[in-house]
Amino acid sequence: MAEQAKKPVKITETILRDAHQSLIATRMTTEQMLPIIDKMDKVGYHSVECWGGATFDASLRFLKEDPWERLRKLRAGFKNTKLQMLFRGQNILGYRHYADDVVAYFVQKSFANGIDIIRIFDALNDLRNLECAVNAANKEKGHAQIAISYTLGDAYTLDYYVGMAKRIESMGASSICIKDMAGLLVPYKATELITALKKAVKIPIDLHTHYTSGVAGMTYLKAVEAGCDIIDTAVSPFAMGTSQPATEVMVETFKGTPFDTGFDQKLLAEIADYFRPMRDEALDSGRLNPKVMGVNIKTLLYQVPGGMLSNLLSQLKEQKAEDRYYDVLEEIPRVRKDFGEPPLVTPSSQIVGTQAVLNVLSGERYKMVTKESKAMLSGQYGQTAKPFNPEVVKKAIGDAKPITCRPADLIKPELKKIEAEITDWKEQDEDVLTYALFPQVALDFFKYRQAQKTKVDVAAADTQNQAYPV
Ligand code: CO
Repeated sequence: MAEQAKKPVKITETILRDAHQSLIATRMTTEQMLPIIDKMDKVGYHSVECWGGATFDASLRFLKEDPWERLRKLRAGFKNTKLQMLFRGQNILGYRHYADDVVAYFVQKSFANGIDIIRIFDALNDLRNLECAVNAANKEKGHAQIAISYTLGDAYTLDYYVGMAKRIESMGASSICIKDMAGLLVPYKATELITALKKAVKIPIDLHTHYTSGVAGMTYLKAVEAGCDIIDTAVSPFAMGTSQPATEVMVETFKGTPFDTGFDQKLLAEIADYFRPMRDEALDSGRLNPKVMGVNIKTLLYQVPGGMLSNLLSQLKEQKAEDRYYDVLEEIPRVRKDFGEPPLVTPSSQIVGTQAVLNVLSGERYKMVTKESKAMLSGQYGQTAKPFNPEVVKKAIGDAKPITCRPADLIKPELKKIEAEITDWKEQDEDVLTYALFPQVALDFFKYRQAQKTKVDVAAADTQNQAYPV
């Protein structure tokens, strides 16, 4: 038998972003990250995902840290490794659609502060919501990776994914990611999917999944055998459960095969040793719930992401309607169908979930319709894989005509206006973007930042006074 040509699988390490977002509510601080990055830089990772997603909001809101400052510090420490971020298309990292000028400026500043690879996705897989960010990344000569939100349903055939991949390649993306946020991709389906994608496009394919349903390690194995170029993993203390498969385990799996990463397990063990006390502390404080570490088989049964299930349960608890849990679980796929069968990921997961709760609790489907449901059924989030149910559209928005254009085409440039609102607080250009994304949280942070400075100034003046008594 001829020896297979060597093709080491590339690894994206997620411990500084997705892993702690998935397990400990994104609470890892910059100070906790910095002491280990020298070692992480020596591993040989394809990239380290360390920014974007929920890290931006959580830094400002809970950790009182400037996310841009974190990025610059990581950039200074990672001398050989590419830094990667997650970016929600026209939403950037926020919760509404932004004008193109804000999106382009955010992309430009992300690269300027140290990002190398930007992973861009849209909840509905409407590629028009990604155009602006991809073009901006290409203008900066950065790596634009477009992610397809992976889901199951009538619309999501192999042809659908192959068609998407071809369009993504022709849009000018540098690579494609299959983003399986719920852990729905099972091993043999991964073989089919990756084989088909590798035939259809030339750019590299990255697979991103979560361990939620317990199959992720096997899925990676089959995907890599089928030609998948990059997989996303997390160092073991923050792996598995709702996070990614463990880096060390995947490295060992491919040892001695054509996919051998060549990584040093001793070095990975030292990195794991560094993070383990953080995990123990999170378990002790209750921040890390052992429940999320197990296999959540309901995810496969109901095809609903783990996070959405727990949100649902707490929503029903608040309404003292926990006994309707299974009714709501059955209503979710029906609402999803009415809404054009979108993938369930932020924000579509919340929109569909909340509407399903209302449909069940109010006793009549669509008797009450949320503002977000109306926006979605008006086309304001973009186009879905299947058409909306016309009867439901009529109930929700009456005779108003849904829009069919790219939603951001209707948003006027807004950067100048936003900039004018914070001239008093601006200390760096990036503050404008921070404020654009999270206005109230940003203002609170800017006030905190100034107060800290005043404190330092007063302390310095005191020392001076002591040294030079007048
Ligand atoms: Co993820």
